[in-house]
Amino acid sequence: MSSSGKYRALITGASGLLGRVVKRAFTSQSQNWEVLGTAFTRVKEDLIALDLTKENEVFKAVQNFKPHVIIHCAAERRPDVVEKQVEATHQLNVGATSTLCKAAAENNCWLLYISTDYVFDGTKPPYQVDDEPNPLNAYGTSKLQGEEVVKKAGNFAILRVPLLYGQIEKIEESAVTILWKNLQTTDTRKTSDYERRHPTTTDDVAAVILSMAEKKVQGENMSGIFHWSGNENMTKYDMVQTMGSVFGVSTDHVIADKTASSGAHRPFNSYLSSDRLEAMGIKPKRTPFKEGIKAALQPYVN
Ligand SMILES: NC(=O)c1ccc[n+]([C@@H]2O[C@H](COP(=O)([O-])OP(=O)(O)OC[C@H]3O[C@@H](n4cnc5c(N)ncnc54)[C@H](OP(=O)(O)O)[C@@H]3O)[C@@H](O)[C@H]2O)c1
Repeated sequence: MSSSGKYRALITGASGLLGRVVKRAFTSQSQNWEVLGTAFTRVKEDLIALDLTKENEVFKAVQNFKPHVIIHCAAERRPDVVEKQVEATHQLNVGATSTLCKAAAENNCWLLYISTDYVFDGTKPPYQVDDEPNPLNAYGTSKLQGEEVVKKAGNFAILRVPLLYGQIEKIEESAVTILWKNLQTTDTRKTSDYERRHPTTTDDVAAVILSMAEKKVQGENMSGIFHWSGNENMTKYDMVQTMGSVFGVSTDHVIADKTASSGAHRPFNSYLSSDRLEAMGIKPKRTPFKEGIKAALQPYVN
């Protein structure tokens, strides 16, 4: 603990979709934490600038702050971008993860690496934590390589999560909220009714991460792989239908597309079983999609 009687949490990617909510949870839902968030291009008043691909800077930041836990959220997570920027993605998703693991080990601190359901091929859901990964695209491959680095590095943990949405800075920020654009027009819009997803709020995931970190600093074994997922099974078409009903907007112009999505190859149904965390007593609420999407989109609805 620090002199203030608090544990220190370093959160990478704290300017991102998940990291910003994780930072808020550690600050507002618990009295136990002194929090430092890092950003790359979106540096704001309460975040420090840190390029995670610069090894010296990462070591310096970790040595200065001396965290008890590192929640490593930063990543390139847009599958179609990753296909075109494989090397740059590798530097961040794998290289920076390796650097952080070394810095964490040197400073005797626990690291939680946020990973993805895209490490699976989506043919045999639900996926347990010990099921064999088989990523279908470069993004899933890079995140799996990051996992391998973490597993080799020590007593660290991996949390795989599915498609996320929540408090956004622009509707394009989440692959869920961007679907609202389909309802901002009356032109015919084809929307995927093929791949199955389990949209999960960043608030729910942040609550899980906070519980894991609190258990860890209280001495519980918190190593290996964990999964957390919402339970509502939906296609993007289903999500748009729900948005329409929540905000009273017609979806008559939205056409169900029953074919596989174009772009990077994506798993059909990579539903993650949360059994391991639930057996450990970590069971924060699962926000119903209707409720979560209303909160996320409300600021963008006229
Ligand atoms: N979003 C999803 O649906 C989803 C689904 C499954 C798993 N995940 C996983 O969840 C984690 C968080 O994802 P997210 O959605 O929050 O991602 P995000 O919104 O794209 O945020 C990415 C974060 O990484 C930071 N970053 C990028 N390059 C960096 C660099 N060179 N050095 C330091 N920081 C850098 C960004 O900083 P700036 O913005 O300041 O540049 C940003 O804070 C990732 O590990 C991702 O793989 C996400």
